[in-house]
Amino acid sequence: MKDKIRAAILGMGTVGTGVYKIMMGQKDEFPHKAGVELEVAKILVRNAKKPREGVDMSIVTDKWEDIINDDSIDIIIEVMGGIEPARTYITEALSRGKHVVTANKDLMAEHGHELLDAASANGCDLLFEAAVAGGIPIIRPLKQCLAANNITEIMGIINGTTNFILTKMTDEGMEFDEALALAQRLGYAEADPTADVEGLDAGRKIAILASVAFNSRVTFSDVYTEGISKITAKDIKYAKELDCVIKLIATAKNTPGGIEVRVTPMFIPKSHPLASVNDSFNAVFVHGDSLGDAMFYGRGAGELPTASAIMGDVIDVCRNIRWNCCGRIGCTCYKSIPVKAMEDIESRYFVSTILEDKPGTLAAVASTFSGNNASIDQMVQKTRGQGYAEVVFIIDNVKEQLFMRAIKELSAMHYVKEISSIIRVHNDMNN
Ligand code: NAP
Ligand code: HSE
Repeated sequence: MKDKIRAAILGMGTVGTGVYKIMMGQKDEFPHKAGVELEVAKILVRNAKKPREGVDMSIVTDKWEDIINDDSIDIIIEVMGGIEPARTYITEALSRGKHVVTANKDLMAEHGHELLDAASANGCDLLFEAAVAGGIPIIRPLKQCLAANNITEIMGIINGTTNFILTKMTDEGMEFDEALALAQRLGYAEADPTADVEGLDAGRKIAILASVAFNSRVTFSDVYTEGISKITAKDIKYAKELDCVIKLIATAKNTPGGIEVRVTPMFIPKSHPLASVNDSFNAVFVHGDSLGDAMFYGRGAGELPTASAIMGDVIDVCRNIRWNCCGRIGCTCYKSIPVKAMEDIESRYFVSTILEDKPGTLAAVASTFSGNNASIDQMVQKTRGQGYAEVVFIIDNVKEQLFMRAIKELSAMHYVKEISSIIRVHNDMNN
């Protein structure tokens, strides 16, 4: 039985620094928690000459060979990010019998299944708790504590940057650009914020969650994504009038017709538990047949919260190594459920329009919606003047393809000057 386990950290950026700090700070606790001593054997970075405060520079390298060829290293902690070379390094590590812990959602959302198969073929652990919702435990609860449930729905706020921006727009009346600039100044948003604000980051995370929750493979390319860059202060104002807030919601549902998975901005009633998840916090709402509803809430990113999830995985691997039971919980996708195309998914919609203010307009608009099986649930005329009226509609559940056909037909009508916003609406609103 081993009494010391050696780990290599790939990457010493935000998350790698947190991992190193916890490993140093908890050094004396590990033998009690994991049953073994844990040592940082090597650290891989791009630039080995860059000074790194508090880090033992004698173990820093920029050569992967120093790590993969070191047979004394048991665990690889991958916190570099990106697809390559992370995919190659993890595959090589698993093929040499090294266990892997990763925070890499981009990689797991695209190639998770291939890597989990490689882990299983080599009797290794590949754990990825930190890849979704940072410090919030969600992968392990789904794979272990809730394993006896048939999970039918997952709904989450799983991107902190966009939640921070939407919170500022809601609480302080900011426009999107102003709130994004603030998020960048405060270090929440990256210099290139595309992955966050266009819903791609949340799309990767919900693909991973859907795979784990429904025991069936869902990849990022299966996820419809829409971001928040077109949300305006006026949309936020309308949401308030309807007793709602706008959130970037990632949802995955296991329906009789297949898996529905998407990321979209959504009107959420203020009474819904996700409506009060603000600033950069994340939350994941889960429905299981035995459990009923549960919500997991906390810090979805950041140095120490993310490192906390990684170190939980590392301790699990140490215990497995010590008790010779690695690879206990590998890929849990034992089903093959089809993923529905977005055009076949039903939603409710908020639509704001500028219409010609003259007889016949509303009749023509209503007839276009009804001609596409889209039923108007609510309609409010907001303003009138200079020959135009601003009118907003809530459209009842209808398939995306029919709704979009109605929008296309409306856009071509002379009665319709502008369709300003289209935002999906949660089913609980006013129901
Ligand atoms: P980061 O700050 O950009 O750090 C990346 C680190 O990896 C740097 O130390 C860099 O080396 C090193 N690196 C990058 N490419 C490399 C290569 N080809 N070879 C060797 N070293 C390489 O990234 P991060 O924010 O810590 O994120 C790391 C991972 O955690 C990503 O997968 C991310 O999605 C995930 N994650 C992050 C957070 C978060 O809050 N930041 C939360 C959850 C998950 P140099 O220092 O020499 O440049
Ligand atoms: N960029 C992500 C967010 C954190 O804003 O939540 C890393 O997953």
